[in-house]
Amino acid sequence: MTVLVLGATGKTGRPMVEALVTRGIHVRAASRNPGPATAGVEPVRFDWADRSTWAPALQGIDGLYVVGPYAEPDEPGLVGDLLAAAQARKVVLLSVLGVDRLPDAIPMAAWEADVRASGKEWSILRPNWFQQNFGEAFAASLRENGELALPAADALVGFVDTRDVAEVAAAALTEEGHAGEVHAITGPEALTHRQVTQILGEAAGRELGYTALTSHQFAGDLRKAGRDERSITWQLGLFQLIRDGGYAVVTDTVEQITGRPARSLKSYARENATTWK
Ligand SMILES: NC(=O)c1ccc[n+]([C@@H]2O[C@H](COP(=O)([O-])OP(=O)(O)OC[C@H]3O[C@@H](n4cnc5c(N)ncnc54)[C@H](OP(=O)(O)O)[C@@H]3O)[C@@H](O)[C@H]2O)c1
Repeated sequence: MTVLVLGATGKTGRPMVEALVTRGIHVRAASRNPGPATAGVEPVRFDWADRSTWAPALQGIDGLYVVGPYAEPDEPGLVGDLLAAAQARKVVLLSVLGVDRLPDAIPMAAWEADVRASGKEWSILRPNWFQQNFGEAFAASLRENGELALPAADALVGFVDTRDVAEVAAAALTEEGHAGEVHAITGPEALTHRQVTQILGEAAGRELGYTALTSHQFAGDLRKAGRDERSITWQLGLFQLIRDGGYAVVTDTVEQITGRPARSLKSYARENATTWK
């Protein structure tokens, strides 16, 4: 079996490649800048914005893991077009928890509709916010300012480790019984951002703080950082849903599907403690 992993350099794509290789699956790992081949992994160039890269990436695959084209707002049909071009029987789409409560500017609901209409054996993953955000997008602020400033109030979020998302995705692609399933995937507990910064600080051996911003302050920060209005609307919609309690969700999907408990934020913090020192 050959599986094409889109976004193979990303937060879920990297562990997805590993999870598939562990299962003995041949992986085609897609990136706009593919790296060198490794055992069981064939890198391939793939760019949503360059259709000439699609056919070589899709050739001969049995399964497809879709991290969608969120940076291509002017081409809403890309996921449907890719699925129509793919021979693969099985497809797993990375969507997001709360997809039905997010603003229309956020394209995951349309991707889900394309996947459902594809005629494939599909599964949809709706993960909660990733624990790995604290080691990537939010890491510089934590490391350099000792602080995280976000418009998340003191609302609870069931942060999930992307390795668990990947293991659910790998099961959905390689085992039977997942066709037509929508998996809501979370960590084992819901935490506030204030609690998260305390946990990261304890792991890193320093004080880390959290400041609750207003939406207005956050939008101003994003504009100063040069973000476009669409991505600002997107971010504000996601944080609104956090404040509304839409991400205070904890499910047992990881345990049901992998047979072991979901990884905790505390263990993620311990494993990555040097990131915030
Ligand atoms: N972050 C969260 O907390 C969270 C929670 C739930 C759901 N999600 C969903 O997860 C998805 C991924 O988001 P993320 O922020 O975590 O990003 P990510 O997966 O860490 O990184 C984005 C990936 O997309 C690839 N990519 C970017 N532009 C591309 C293009 N034009 N063509 C092909 N590949 C491209 C990048 O690969 P190269 O740069 O190597 O090409 C990279 O591997 C999004 O749909 C998001 O809504 C995120």
